[in-house]
Amino acid sequence: MTTADDKDITVEDVLNPDSFDVDEVKALCEKYIAPCVHYYYENPVLISKGNGATLYDSDGKEYIDLFAGVCTILSGHCNPKITNALKRQLDLLMHTTTLYPTVPMVAYAKKLASIAPGPLNKCFFVNSGSEANEAALHLIKMYKGSHFVMSLNGSFHGRTLMAMSLTNQGAWRQNLPYATGVLGAPHANCYRCAFGQEYPGCDYECARYAEKIIRCQTPNQIAGMIVEPIQGNGGVITPPPEYFKILYEITKKYDGVFISDEVQTGFGRTGKTWGIEHWNVTPDIITMAKGMASGFPIGGFIARDEIADILNPKDLFSTYGGNPLAMVAGLANIEVFMEEDFPARAARLGAVYKKGLNELMESHSIIGDVRGKGLMLGFELVKSKDDKTPLTEETPRFMEIAKDMGLFIGAGGLEGNVVRIKPPLVMTPEQIDRSLEILDSALKKLESTL
Ligand SMILES: Cc1ncc(COP(=O)(O)O)c(C=O)c1O
Repeated sequence: MTTADDKDITVEDVLNPDSFDVDEVKALCEKYIAPCVHYYYENPVLISKGNGATLYDSDGKEYIDLFAGVCTILSGHCNPKITNALKRQLDLLMHTTTLYPTVPMVAYAKKLASIAPGPLNKCFFVNSGSEANEAALHLIKMYKGSHFVMSLNGSFHGRTLMAMSLTNQGAWRQNLPYATGVLGAPHANCYRCAFGQEYPGCDYECARYAEKIIRCQTPNQIAGMIVEPIQGNGGVITPPPEYFKILYEITKKYDGVFISDEVQTGFGRTGKTWGIEHWNVTPDIITMAKGMASGFPIGGFIARDEIADILNPKDLFSTYGGNPLAMVAGLANIEVFMEEDFPARAARLGAVYKKGLNELMESHSIIGDVRGKGLMLGFELVKSKDDKTPLTEETPRFMEIAKDMGLFIGAGGLEGNVVRIKPPLVMTPEQIDRSLEILDSALKKLESTL
């Protein structure tokens, strides 16, 4: 029997993905792709098309996509405004580098500055969230002449060396020499408080502890602090109101730069343009990627002028940074963001969704906590309301059940038991209702096996 590996797979074949079956693709992946690339599902499906918040597999089966390519697609899969802009730009110019002036990069930077918090104005573009954080950390260390930086327990900032060093989750760490000077501070996980406290009687012990770490481990000075307003990969951890204000004040007390990693929370997903706005903090730098172009590879930072202006030629450079296709995709994405008013839409649909999740929590004892803002939501699967033991092994089974019922969800958290819900913001009210029904049925099915 001939397999896909026996034939020469052409561009024409690739553009007709329905002619492949999932087992052929799995076999090719096993043979030609490094095994760190793994699938969510034991029985994955071959996704071949997308539209809005809907994905289709190669058999034509429809799925509601609640994970949006890991919290990336905001404007919907294959949004025509973005794809048409890309097609037109493709016929004009695909690549030059930033060694030559081009229109798309400056146009995008100008538009981005118009939606960034007031003092943030100067951009630098790369291709991913990891590179964005790498570049921002490089910048703040140069700016402050210090190499001590602080990130939060449970954080995820990417897979390049500095970004991995900032990432405080055992599951994403290996026995490797990471960058020195990175301090981990407690995060505010009120469902599982590291200090055994209860909000609001805790006086934010978690946030205040950061100061002790700085005083013990640095010469009372840091280059800066990087936070995710809502931890994505870490399990949709959503701190109480004053938490980031306290961290901001501590950062400033020790002369640091405050960076908000908005790779997941940016561009309206949480119900505000930038996630950190929920905490009334204005960061000095925002790093971004994912939702920036709703699926086209892109990343970058925007910083206060006085910080970015210290950079000289060759301090930072990226061959593909500012690529005309990425910039046009980003620009079209911001136009959709404005036309659809993403922050308002995420706030409105998110409120409906969260209400639905809270109702599910009432009727299913294995949901211990529902959290998040806008359309960045999550819930913890636990043994029971009284026994918070995480259902770590059962969560992948739950995902498999939901997938078979036509729903893609994500998983995360230190214990891997947090179901993550981050759909495209163009999701329809009907899809909200239908996806909540599916979650209900999938929870019942999982419960019947426990
Ligand atoms: C908050 C955050 N920062 C950075 C990254 C890294 O982004 P990328 O995978 O594009 O390098 C991620 C990826 O999930 C992320 O969630």
